[in-house]
Amino acid sequence: MNERLIVVSNRLPMGDTPSGGLVVSLHDVLAASGGCWIGSHPEAGDDHGAFERIGEEPYQRLAFRLTQSEMENYYLGYANSVLWPLCHRRPDLVKIRPAFREAYEAVNRRIAAMIAREVGPEDIIWVQDYHFIPLARELRKLGVTNRIGFFLHIPFPVLADLSIMPQAETFAECLAHYNLIGLQTREDVARCLEMFRDDPRAEFMTDGSIKFGEHVSLVHSFPIGIDAKAFEDEARRELPDVFGGASPAPFAIGVDRLDYSKGLPNRFRAFGTYLADLRPEDTRPCLIQIAPPTRLGVQAYEDITEELQGLTGKINGQFAELDWTPIRFINRSVERARLAHLFRMARCGLVTSLADGMNLVAKEYIAAQDPADPGVLVLSQFAGAAEDMTEALLVNPYDIEAMAHRIDEAFRMPLGERQRRYRHCLEVVRKTDATSWAHNFLNVLRSSLKALDLAFQERELQPFG
Ligand code: ADP
Ligand code: F6P
Repeated sequence: MNERLIVVSNRLPMGDTPSGGLVVSLHDVLAASGGCWIGSHPEAGDDHGAFERIGEEPYQRLAFRLTQSEMENYYLGYANSVLWPLCHRRPDLVKIRPAFREAYEAVNRRIAAMIAREVGPEDIIWVQDYHFIPLARELRKLGVTNRIGFFLHIPFPVLADLSIMPQAETFAECLAHYNLIGLQTREDVARCLEMFRDDPRAEFMTDGSIKFGEHVSLVHSFPIGIDAKAFEDEARRELPDVFGGASPAPFAIGVDRLDYSKGLPNRFRAFGTYLADLRPEDTRPCLIQIAPPTRLGVQAYEDITEELQGLTGKINGQFAELDWTPIRFINRSVERARLAHLFRMARCGLVTSLADGMNLVAKEYIAAQDPADPGVLVLSQFAGAAEDMTEALLVNPYDIEAMAHRIDEAFRMPLGERQRRYRHCLEVVRKTDATSWAHNFLNVLRSSLKALDLAFQERELQPFG
């Protein structure tokens, strides 16, 4: 069999410092299997014709270019001003414009036509994330009958929020064109099934699959992970002193894209409250927050940047000493080796998302720790990672006082308890790593769906209830 894996995502990975969960995970999987990754690239040849092949092995990269108008209306518009806030429970930030929806549909049609020319009969197509939800529907219209899987890297929206979306009824229909719908957590699966249950067009079959018109889909959770081994090794490597001789130890660390879903203002406030509650004789840790700007041009991202700059100034003004700055707020990317090293040095890792698909930083922080003297992960109960990493110090990021107490607890935690919690979290990180995530997804897409097709052909499956 000459099967090839074709991954489609909005972005093609660039450079050596990937800064998004999706890119970090898939890079390794494709590097191991060969195959092909299709995505946008700012310098790809033209914005209408065929894909441009870029880069070298270990896998093929096919690039398309987005026009300025597509960037504004499809990427910043529908993807990041409608779907992103909606899935992250911020309906107040949703901006509805007909041009956004039109561009989103048009980009999906355009890329589907390009893929249809590229795809071979044995290929498996794996579509990533919310930018390309209608892609399978468009491919089917063009006669593509290959297996198509979809993975949503961000939270599945709650039913009540879905109705805010323009043409909300097409959301379920577009998803139903995929053979397999992969989600991060069991809670996401529950929300997805609730959507189908609420839709009179969907029928639940006795084996749990969903029949929607002539389509049959499975919905399953596949918690995404990191290349745990590589990150553990990276963190163990000696690096020249990253602080140039002026180590601020002990410190807490936060590493996030500067996104309103990451709960950064809540984190900064909790850190301020924690500092205010310290006794005069206590050591004063600082917070190193690395947060490169993202999705510039969307007002909500400009607002959150300003809010954080204001908060940093306020907290630093209130607590700073001549030789100590409470919050170091760094607005740029850091290379992976340095990041791993910083994670290992930090006494406490802060992940305080208000909503988050998985959060790979939580997994990276754990993988980077020194088993003999591990730091403590403070983890939002609203990050997908919290579903399995139950021995992290879980917090409700809306509760600032409680979060401040958790930070205090993390800094004071005895070694034995730190090691116990670390070992539990590390087991989760290793068990749900990037490779097993992809293999599990692809195995279900390949094998169980064959059985499902057969059962349907032989009319073994019946509607449930
Ligand atoms: P998201 O996909 O929403 O950005 P994740 O936490 O799942 O969030 O993944 C973020 C990935 O990007 C992690 O691998 C993280 O190390 C990386 N990353 C985030 N911020 C930075 C940064 N400032 N510098 C380098 N890498 C970063
Ligand atoms: O993990 C969610 C996600 O949207 C990924 O799809 C993406 O790689 C990452 O966040 C970064 O977002 P963007 O590609 O918009 O910079």
